[in-house]
Order: sequence, then structure tokens, then C-alpha cells
Amino acid sequence: MMQPRVLATQVLYQVVFKQQHLKQALQSCCPTDYPPQDKAWVQHVCYQSLRHHQNLNARWQKFMTKPLKDHLVGCLLTISLAQKFHLDTPDHAVVNEAVKAARKLKKNWATGLINKVLKLATADADFVAKNESEQYNHPQWWIDLLKKDWPDHWQQILSANNQMPPLWVRTPTPMNPEQGTQYQPLPSAWLLHDKQDSTSEAMLAGAYSVQDAAAQYAAWLLAPQPGELILDACAAPGGKSGHLLEMCSDIKLHVLEKDPARLQLVSQNLKRLNLHAERLVAGDASQPKAWFQGTKYDKILLDVPCSAAGVVRRNPDIKVLRQAEHLKPLTQLQQQILSAIAPLLKVDGTLLYATCSVFRSENERQIKKFLKTHSNYEHQTINIKAAENCLYGQQIITGTDQMDGFYYCQLKRKQ
Ligand SMILES: C[S@@+](CC[C@H](N)C(=O)[O-])C[C@H]1O[C@@H](n2cnc3c(N)ncnc32)[C@H](O)[C@@H]1O
Repeated sequence: MMQPRVLATQVLYQVVFKQQHLKQALQSCCPTDYPPQDKAWVQHVCYQSLRHHQNLNARWQKFMTKPLKDHLVGCLLTISLAQKFHLDTPDHAVVNEAVKAARKLKKNWATGLINKVLKLATADADFVAKNESEQYNHPQWWIDLLKKDWPDHWQQILSANNQMPPLWVRTPTPMNPEQGTQYQPLPSAWLLHDKQDSTSEAMLAGAYSVQDAAAQYAAWLLAPQPGELILDACAAPGGKSGHLLEMCSDIKLHVLEKDPARLQLVSQNLKRLNLHAERLVAGDASQPKAWFQGTKYDKILLDVPCSAAGVVRRNPDIKVLRQAEHLKPLTQLQQQILSAIAPLLKVDGTLLYATCSVFRSENERQIKKFLKTHSNYEHQTINIKAAENCLYGQQIITGTDQMDGFYYCQLKRKQ
């Protein structure tokens, strides 16, 4: 069986140098019969290595006399320092285990180097970040964009992005207060005291669902009423579809998702909760002609594909995988989807535009652009107490009340 440190090195390498998503890399590198405790350790060390990536890299690079060409050895150094600084592993274990792992990785040539560099880096009390990227553990373009978008909040966002996230659940009935604390503004949202609870029988039995409080605002804002025809236009994995039905099982919910494999996740989720959607369709929200049957909707939830810049603490690989140039095509797609879906709303109907992003280009600027060319829609004020008001809509800043970063804007069709 492969050593956990060897496996963690390979997983990190797949993400950073092969652009694989962390969850996929963990799945493809970990054998199915890998001991659960070791798997949990590998997962934890990889998440921490990515949360603190730029800083950890800088700590070992400081002691290199020339750039390291072997990226696998570099990943081993990074996961080793993650153990020192973010898993409280004693220095001697960090160094000895890294040397053993290097041998298993057939990098015998590097054992002397690893031994020397890690001894120096673990004992280095004088380390100072050379730039903002090393200080805040994000690419510089991301930091610059946040400074522009959120001059008073950019540091809060960056710092929250690097924290381990809390475990929020959604439950239609109150929980035992020994298990969690209810979030006052949202009756369904509970912050669990013990993160292990996510795997409990109660969740599998449908008593609760794992969902951040910020994401739970979607259904509360839409406030589904009996008999309403509602479209969830970008629905997988179905967290918000489930919540809408949980709040009112008498709605007629149409669930749309472009990716057929992900649509299956919605099916499974609704089955687990014993809930029923009137229609589940694999289709493209920007091409309604292919799937729209002609009856317009009372309400539409448009949780568009986005940069996911508000959920980085749960997906730290985004900081390595996302490039600045990805934003433009994403915002174009968001505008296409919004323009194609809005005409499916009835007059007086409500559309809720949502993203798990904190970038204004994906949020209020999309609404501004849409309203300029669609005079038959108007912006409606929403009132999320913990959120910041934008030109249109509201932004939950990552970390506020321990929530993910989320944007919501409600539009009404006038004619
Ligand atoms: C932010 S996620 C939705 C999360 C979901 N609302 C929930 O709460 O579980 C966006 C989803 O949109 C899907 N998607 C991307 N492009 C789409 C398109 N053109 N039409 C419909 N769905 C699309 C993605 O596959 C992804 O599942």
C-alpha cells in the first residue's frame, strides 16, 4: 500500500502541474481500498497545502541555490512544510518522513537536498513573505481584482478563503442544540459543532443536507408558494432544488442542468430527501428552444456557472487552477444565459440571479448590462442583513457570519 506522504505528493502534483481538480485527483490517485484514516490524512494535507500554497513554496524556495526542476520533489517539499505549519507535525518527523517518501518516489538523488532544505525551512523563524501573493496565498491578479472590487473587504475575503470552512447544514426541523447552533436569520441553517456529523446516518436518511447558510438564502428569497411553476435553471447538484421543495412540496419544479451526469446528482439528492420535481431536463440554459415547453414560469432561480471565488475555502484548488483570462468567457456565458432565460418568466414573475462569486464582473455588472438592454425588467431590493448592498443586489462577503461568499439579485418582469 502506498505511503500517505507519497500519495499526497502525487495528488498535489496532479493539481498544480496537470491542472486536475483536487477532488478528481484524490479520487484517481487513492486506491478504493485505501484505509479511510490515511485517506482523510492525505485529503487534509493536500487541502492545507493548497490553502497556503504560495507561502509554503516560498519557505522552501528560500533555501534553494538554483530553481528546482523536478516538480514532484517540489510538491513533496510543499506537503512536508504543510505538515510542519498547518498539521503540527514535529520537525524531525517532517524531515525523516519526507526523505523516506523521496525514496519511495524513486527520487534517491534528492534525499540529501530534501534533508537539508527541510531542516533549514522548519527551523526558519525569520521567514518574511516577499510579496502579497506569498502573504495572502492567492495569485497577484486575484488580489488586485479584489482590492478594486472590495477596497474595504479584500483582506477579509483573502483571509476567509484560506481558512478551513465550518460545517453548515440545512434542516426542515430544528436540530438538537447540542449538535449545532441555529443561524438566527435563517431557520433552516445550523452550524454544526462537530464536523464528523456530516457522515451520520441522519444525513443519509434525509433529515438534513450539507449546505452553507449563504446558499440557503436562495430558497428563502424566492419563497416558493403552493401551485407556483418554478424553474431551477442551472441546478446540479441540486442543493437549492431540494431546499425549494423542502420549503413547499406543492410547487411544480422544473430542474434544468446542462451536464447529464450532474443531472443524475440532482435526481439522487431529491430521492434521498424523498422530494419530487415535476420535470428534470438535461439542457442548455442559453438555448431554451431545445427544451422549453411553452408555459412561462412564476419564479426562476438562475444560479449561473461562475468562478466560484466565494467558495475557495471549500475548494482551494481554484486558486491554482483559475486564471484571470477565464473570467471573460465566464461572464459572456452568464450574460447569454440570463438573456435567454429571462423571457421565460411570466409578467410580474421573479427571477433570482445568484453566483458563489465575489467578483463584481460576474455580479452587479451583469445585472447592469442586462437591464440596459431589457427595459421590461426591474431590479427589486432584497434584504439580507449580513450582506453588503451593491448597485444592484447584495453581496455576502466570504467569512461574514462564517458564510461562503455569495451574490444575489432579484429581478421582476414588468411586461
Ligand atoms: C453553481 S452550479 C449550480 C449549483 C446548484 N444550483 C445547487 O445549489 O446545487 C452551476 C451549474 O450550472 C451547470 N451549467 C453550466 N452551464 C450551463 C448551461 N449552459 N445550462 C445549464 N446548466 C449549466 C453546471 O454544470 C453546474 O452544475
